[in-house]
Amino acid sequence: MPQTGRLVRKQIHVFYRCQSDKRGKLSATVPDKINLRVNDRLHSVDAAPNTPLLYVLSGDLQLQGPRFGCGLAQCGSCSVLADGSEIRSCVTPISAVQGKSIITLEGLPAWYAKQKKTNHARSASNPPFHPVQQAMIDEQAVQCGYCFNGMIIQAAELLSKTPQPTEAEIRAAMNGHLCRCGSYPRVIKAIQRASRAMAGVNIAANAENLDPASPESRR
Ligand code: FES
Ligand code: FES
Repeated sequence: MPQTGRLVRKQIHVFYRCQSDKRGKLSATVPDKINLRVNDRLHSVDAAPNTPLLYVLSGDLQLQGPRFGCGLAQCGSCSVLADGSEIRSCVTPISAVQGKSIITLEGLPAWYAKQKKTNHARSASNPPFHPVQQAMIDEQAVQCGYCFNGMIIQAAELLSKTPQPTEAEIRAAMNGHLCRCGSYPRVIKAIQRASRAMAGVNIAANAENLDPASPESRR
């Protein structure tokens, strides 16, 4: 399956490059130099503006986080964050995300650590995983794993915007992600677990602020 996936991705990548070249001959302006900020690093790529972001991420930048599934924005395996919001990279042209901060699974722990620093200056050191990743491991939620990179991205977005989601909110957020292994119940449990873990960090930070011995609490 991974071999087939790689082959399909390569064929599509080549197809798009051919399309770009054809348009290039017509317009004499393609390929363009496009600057993309991915996982906090600036990349300059030669590609037609309508090239799907997924092909640049997996082809040019060799990132394994976003995966090719349906190519139609239907399954969620290609999900990444753009300025903190989940997008389907298989149908997003690179011209639409110029100037935005793209985060793939590879950059998620650093993205979370940065958020924590902003929100809780005195929180613990950077974790190796985003809490959602750790919770997926702890709940043994993963089966074949093909859908999980996108699921984790979606769950991270949810918890960044709704730290204490209800089960209904979790179901609604994850609704657009397909898992052929049927791991949904464990995914929900894992997201609830991650939410508690993240609340624990927050509670610790708040507790510090409310410490009767702290200068702030005496004011
Ligand atoms: S590959 Fe993008 S949503 Fe399925
Ligand atoms: S774990 Fe196999 S597709 Fe979701």
